[in-house]
Amino acid sequence: MKEQLEQIRQSALAALDAADTLAALEELRVKLLGKKGELTAVLKMMGKLSPEERPVMGQLANSVRADIEAELERRKAALNAAALERKLASEAIDVTIPGDAVELGHQHPMNQVLQQVKDIFVGLGYTVVDGPEVELADYNFTRLNIEEGHPSRDRSDTFYFDDNDAVLLRTQTSSMQIRFMEEHKPPFCMLAPGRVFRKDEADATHSPMFHQIEGLVVDEHITMGDLKGALIAIMQAIYGQDAQTRFRPHHFPFTEPSCEMDMQCHKCHGTGEVDGGVCPTCHGEGWIELLGAGMVHPTVLANCGIDPEKWSGFAFGMGLERMAMGRLKINDLRLIFDNNIKFLEQF
Ligand code: DAH
Repeated sequence: MKEQLEQIRQSALAALDAADTLAALEELRVKLLGKKGELTAVLKMMGKLSPEERPVMGQLANSVRADIEAELERRKAALNAAALERKLASEAIDVTIPGDAVELGHQHPMNQVLQQVKDIFVGLGYTVVDGPEVELADYNFTRLNIEEGHPSRDRSDTFYFDDNDAVLLRTQTSSMQIRFMEEHKPPFCMLAPGRVFRKDEADATHSPMFHQIEGLVVDEHITMGDLKGALIAIMQAIYGQDAQTRFRPHHFPFTEPSCEMDMQCHKCHGTGEVDGGVCPTCHGEGWIELLGAGMVHPTVLANCGIDPEKWSGFAFGMGLERMAMGRLKINDLRLIFDNNIKFLEQF
């Protein structure tokens, strides 16, 4: 019986050592220690032993069982550790592998120019403000001294929301002059960029939606000289020191006197000709119209509760698309709004 027990111990330990799955271990446990197991079978024969032999064999049997149990636990722990190791290895992330490159976008070219223009004006002490695109006709027209029946109020030019033409999509950022003067006392310098809307078919130079940048300066003793000095300085900041500008008399209901400012064509440098033909950018004019401007009409100041005897000011409104096209040498307005990535990536 002693040999039998030693035999069981040896073969059990060897089998446990060779088992390489938890399921195999469990199978061995049942086979070795279970009710119908090998060890139990031997113990059942203990009754046949002499009283002297019985405690000796009992002790041996217990030590065999203890050895098997200890080995079982050891193997179980080893297999569990190995399984964890494999799992960790298979799930490991190599943080040193370079990731997929994320392509960064950039500002739309028109916004780049807008940002530059805003920076220049902020540097000159202007306050930049924002206002509603859905506007009252009162702000867009009436208080800007644009009389009833003026062609720009026509339903064929302006998007109205109601039957009595009181609410509209603003046709000019000049509405912001009124809104600003309603809330601020002079002196001030204000800049109001934003979208405006007109019933225009889209072509190379027109779009039903475009952007304007409105400027308004009100102080004591402001003259046309201030207007010209400011606008020339601004154009040189944007287009370079040698940018050539000219002022032409014009008419706007909300300024008196009024003018338009042109910039010498960047394509033909004022000659109106390119390669013996008519310059395609300025259509032979040699100049490109950039903005409307003038001295704020006394009636407009009075409409906003500002005393025109004490205060005077100048105002201007420029087309942002036109500025961007000139600066970036874009020849078709529609390109600015198409949002073709291949086009935009150039800037
Ligand atoms: N609002 C005018 C337009 O859309 C442009 C303009 C002209 C703005 C003269 C002004 C100004 O502030 O003084 O054509």
